[in-house]
Formats: sequence, structure tokens, C-alpha cells
Amino acid sequence: MHFKEKLIIEKLPKHIAIIMDGNGRWAKNKLQPRVFGHTNGVSAVREVTEASAELGIKYLTLYAFSTENWNRPSFEINALMNLLVETIRKEISTLNKNNIKLTAIGGLEKLPSSTYKALMEGIEQTKNNTRMTLVLALNYSAKWELIKAMQSIGSLVQNGSLLPEQIDDQIIEQNLATSGIPDPELLIRTSGEHRISNFLLWQIAYSELYFTNTLWPDFHKENLYEAIYDFQNRERRFGKISEQIQS
Ligand code: FPP
Repeated sequence: MHFKEKLIIEKLPKHIAIIMDGNGRWAKNKLQPRVFGHTNGVSAVREVTEASAELGIKYLTLYAFSTENWNRPSFEINALMNLLVETIRKEISTLNKNNIKLTAIGGLEKLPSSTYKALMEGIEQTKNNTRMTLVLALNYSAKWELIKAMQSIGSLVQNGSLLPEQIDDQIIEQNLATSGIPDPELLIRTSGEHRISNFLLWQIAYSELYFTNTLWPDFHKENLYEAIYDFQNRERRFGKISEQIQS
């Protein structure tokens, strides 16, 4: 343990993205309803946000609700949406105290109005903070995002302000929900599943993937340090050979 002391501050990822998974199983293991897992998942969100800001991570993106999550029982959806309202309202002052800006990506207008309202309040009230940006992915999926981007770019081509051959990395990035945010160098998924589940497909082209069996409510600061330590001990080659990277 004690991974924090082993971290190299100059080699920290700028952006960490997390697929928070395993709340339901965590609750089931404790013979509790699934929602109990989500409530405890909020504590992990708080811990990981705090640890990231303390370390100097600039962006933390959390997959909080996917477009596919609407297929869950309505009781669970409602509980998650209410938990979001409650958590955002409760945490705004802590976010401000810690100079953390809240933003969100996804089809936000489809969220229940109370969730949408709390989210907009949170975003508005933290918009001038500069230490770290916490991005919540809500009603998000990468395919949704790519479709939106293609639609926007398509209309630029149609109205003559862009030629098809001018479409490049930069144009695509400008039209993604994450526009202006650097790609995550590290993507973490908890609970032992080895899937991307429609999260940030464009942005993770070169990300290091870190999978852990730890269930999300059990993911503490030390687990984050361990993931970053693992990341720092990988060689990121970006298509080059090993000798070109060293020095
Ligand atoms: C995955 O566990 C978790 C979610 C779909 C929701 C994540 C939500 C929170 C941690 C709470 C609210 C978040 C914020 C940012 C305030 P699962 O239900 O898929 O678990 P399972 O795979 O074991 O069933």
C-alpha cells in the first residue's frame, strides 16, 4: 500500500475518466437493496474527487448515468436522479471551498427537470473555479456524442462553411461534448468488468486502461493512487518504438 508517496508529480495524468461500476453487487453482497449501493457510491465519488484535486489532476470525468441506464427499473432511475439532486445541492459549497468546477456532458435536457435544475445550479455556482474540473457524464453515450458531432459537421458542410476534406481531428474534437477538455490519459473501470460500455470512444484512442475488481463503493483514495502508480509505470509509446521514448 502507500502508493501516494511513490507517485511522480511531474507524470500525473491531466485527465482521469472513471466508469464507476459495481454499486448493485456491493449492496447485494451486504443483503441490501441496490439503491444502498448507489448511496455509498456517492462517498466514493467524494473521496476520489478530493484525492484528485489534492494531487493536482486537472480533469476528472465520471460516468454517472448512461443512455442505456434508462432501461433500469424506474424505481432505481428515480432513486439515482434524486441522489444526484441531493448530492449536487449538498456538495456545491465543498466544491467552491476546494476551487472545483462542475460541468456535465450528455443529453442533459432529457434528465428529469429537478435533476436538470440542480445540475445547472451546480454548474453556474462553480463556473469560476480553476483548480480542477469535475465532469459528470449524464444521459451520456459515446455513440450519442459522435452522432451529434456528425450532425453538426454535416450541417457545416451543407451550408458551405466547411469542405468534407477539411474535416480533421480538430474539427471533430471541437464538435464533441468534451470540446476544450484534453483526452483522458487514464481510464479506470471498477468491479471486474472489462468493457468500455459506450464511454468516450473517440477520446480514449490512446488512453491507458486500468481495470480493478474493487467494487465502486469500496474504491478509496488509496485505490486511485494505486491506479495512477500503475499508469506511471507503463510505457506510453503512441506508435513509436521504445528507444524513441527513453531519454
Ligand atoms: C454502477 O453500478 C453505477 C451507476 C450506474 C451509477 C453511479 C452513480 C453514483 C455513484 C451515485 C451518484 C453519482 C454522483 C456523481 C453524485 P451498477 O448499478 O451498475 O452496479 P452493478 O453492476 O453491480 O449492478
